[in-house]
Formats: sequence, structure tokens, C-alpha cells
Amino acid sequence: MKILLIGGGGREHALAWKLAQSPKVEKMYCAPGNPGITAVAECVDIEITDNEALGKFALEHKIDLTVVGPELPLTNGLVDHFTALNLKAFGPSQKAAQLEGSKAFAKDIMHKYHIPTAASAAFTDADCAIAYIKQQGAPIVVKADGLAAGKGVVVAMTLEEAIDAVTLMMKDKAFGSAGNLVVVEEYLEGEEASLLAFTDGITVVPMVAAQDYKRIFDNDQGPNTGGMGTYAPAPVVTPEIREQVRREVLQPVIDGMRQEGIIYKGCLYAGLMITAQGPKVIEFNARFGDPETQVVLPLLHTDLVDIVEACANGNLADINIEWDNKAAVCVVLAAGGYPGIYHKGDAITGLDNAEAQGAMVFHAGTATKNGQIVTQGGRVLGVTAVADSLRNAVDKVYQAVPVIAFDGMQYRKDIAHRAFNRNDK
Ligand code: AMP
Ligand code: GLY
Repeated sequence: MKILLIGGGGREHALAWKLAQSPKVEKMYCAPGNPGITAVAECVDIEITDNEALGKFALEHKIDLTVVGPELPLTNGLVDHFTALNLKAFGPSQKAAQLEGSKAFAKDIMHKYHIPTAASAAFTDADCAIAYIKQQGAPIVVKADGLAAGKGVVVAMTLEEAIDAVTLMMKDKAFGSAGNLVVVEEYLEGEEASLLAFTDGITVVPMVAAQDYKRIFDNDQGPNTGGMGTYAPAPVVTPEIREQVRREVLQPVIDGMRQEGIIYKGCLYAGLMITAQGPKVIEFNARFGDPETQVVLPLLHTDLVDIVEACANGNLADINIEWDNKAAVCVVLAAGGYPGIYHKGDAITGLDNAEAQGAMVFHAGTATKNGQIVTQGGRVLGVTAVADSLRNAVDKVYQAVPVIAFDGMQYRKDIAHRAFNRNDK
């Protein structure tokens, strides 16, 4: 069959790598792809937001199945457009993707269907939001509604910080229209985890749990990023907690959406806080996590094409999804200056040697210039190692990482260490 993959980051490289392993795939295209993805797919230069051009390409090239990576095409209605053209696509419809696209929508669904999450209130008026914050007290969390590239969240430890955040979002419009509606919510204390699930709108199958390292520096210091590393499985999500999240979060949200007349198909990502009172939802994403995908898919034993087809066709219950009993660690190599202003166009060396050490190198922000792979984004590469234990995977990944070099390269040295510092182990 012919597959079209949408996106061009580390998540899509991992998806492409896994999809390409399926004996069913005779040809894969990726729009727009990246230099790493060219090893397994033909990259085509079409904008991920250009529904018309993507639909036209898929019809012309007789694409059997399209897999959508990033949130933007989902909230932009790409899957609806493909469905109208009678093209099969993996990913939620525009309405279903509101679970990620609108925090207020997600909160309403969670409250209505009794899904454990932080108590919250939504505001369109800054003064009302500030009055509520003063009444609740700090610590408290302020979130801009809508997509703000992960930057529209302020975890305020003081009242002053919270009020400043409201002013920034609602009065100064720091995130544009995403600040027209602001959600103020209870501060949750605990350890975070990401649990992704496959769903066809009825059946929900959780994947292995992962943890994402969002801060730029070791020991969770410095500003938030798109994710500096990840590992799986995350021991904070015990088999019991995973089952509890399936029963109390994932299944009820998919059932609740269906009751609202919305069939959610694709990958549902629950960002969780494992609190003393049990797991609570921080956010939903309507897609695979990045970088979580770079550790979850290497542990997937089952053919990914079979799974995504079953999700799109509505027969996920017929598939037996199996995981390897191994561990995976991914360390993100970022450009100097990231998450602030960073340099582009620096030559990258050592990619082949890192792979020769047994690591997988997923491209996130790279480009080709005069036949040489160069840096192009803030998060440049994701280096993943798989081993029979987490300790061995960590050792393996940190042997491979220094083999790669580019000007200003920075990475965290403590990915997965949280799993070793647990006092219940
Ligand atoms: P979000 O974009 O909603 O995932 O939020 C970004 C980050 O802010 C999360 O990964 C958490 O670390 C933190 N965060 C969000 N909501 C809360 C909350 N209610 N309590 C504590 N931390 C939170
Ligand atoms: N790793 C966070 C995300 O994918 O949103």
C-alpha cells in the first residue's frame, strides 16, 4: 500500500521509521519530511496546512492511508477534508481535535464526564480572572486557550506572577487571540507522565507510558522547551495506574466525545499528573507526543500499519497490540541558545558513527545544504537507544550522543534519571 505521512519533525521521523518496517508498505511519501526521513520515504514539498494541495497529491498518487503527525493540520481540518474526498486518514477530525486545540473545550468534556483533572474556571475578562485568582490564592496555573506552541501556560507560585500572566495574555495579547479566553486552574502536585493511546472512537488501547523532560537544563532548571528528552516505560505509571487511567480517563473521554456526536479516531495523548489522590489530567493532545514517540514506537512490537489502519477503519478491537519488554531513552540535541534565539545552518557530524554505536538518530530540525546535513531548528536531533533495561539504555544513549557534533550543541545529561531516583524502587 501507499502511505502519506504529514509533518517533518522528530515525531514524524519515528513514525516513518516504524511504518516503513511494515511489509505492507510499498511506497511512503512524507510532506514535508526532513533529511532523516528521506531514508525511508520520498519527501514532498507541500505545506502541512495546505489541505487542498495535500488532498490533490493523495488522489493523484493513489494514497491508501494518510497518517497525520502534528496538531496544526488536525485542528485545520485535514482529516475532514480527506474524509470528504473518500481518502483514509489516521487522526482526529477538526471537531475531535478540539480536545487539544481548546483547553476550555477539553475542560468542559472532563467536567461533564467526571474525568479527574484540576479544578478550573474559564474567563474572557481579565478583571474577572484576577478576582478569581485572588479568591483562590497561589500557587495557581494560568493557561491561554488555543494553541500557543506550549508556551501559553504559567505555573504561578505567587499571586503577583498569576496576575502578571493574566495581564500578559489578556491585555497585552502576548499569544495573540489564544489569550481571548484564559483558563485558571488548581495547581497539581506530583510527577508528570504521558500516556498515549490508540483509538478508533470506541476501543482505546494505551501505549507504554513515557516521561518528557520539558526544561532546558539538568535538574529541571531553566525555561520550558518543546521537550529535551524522554524515556519509556516510566515506572511512575505502574500497571495499576495505567489501567486506572484507561478506565477513568481514556475510555470515558472517548465515550463522552461519542455522546457529544464526535468520533475521535487516532492517537489520544493524556498529559497526566500522578498526584497523591491518583492520576489527574493536565492536558490532552490530539496526536503523538514529541519526543515521546521516539521512545514509545521503538518498543512497539506490532506492525504500526495494522494498528493505524484498524483505528481508521473502526476495528481496533480485532488487533492484538504487543510491546517489547525493553526500555528506550531519547536525548534531544538542541541548538545553542534554544529555547531562545538560536543559530541555524551549522554542519552536523558523526551521525553515521552514532548509529554504528547502536543508537537511532531521529531528525527533528535539520536541513541539507551542499550535500551536508546542517542544523535548521531549535531541537535538531533525537538520539534514541533501546536496551533490555533502562540503565543499559541510558548508558547506550550517552555513549552515542557525544559522537555527534555541531556548533553550540546542547543536551541534558540526566534523561531518565528520575526513574533511578525513585524511593519506591
Ligand atoms: P500544558 O501546556 O497544559 O501541558 O502545561 C505545560 C506544563 O505546565 C505541564 O507540563 C506542567 O508541567 C505544568 N502544568 C500545567 N498545568 C498544571 C497544573 N494544574 N498544576 C501543575 N502544573 C501544571
Ligand atoms: N511532549 C509534549 C508534547 O508532545 O506535547
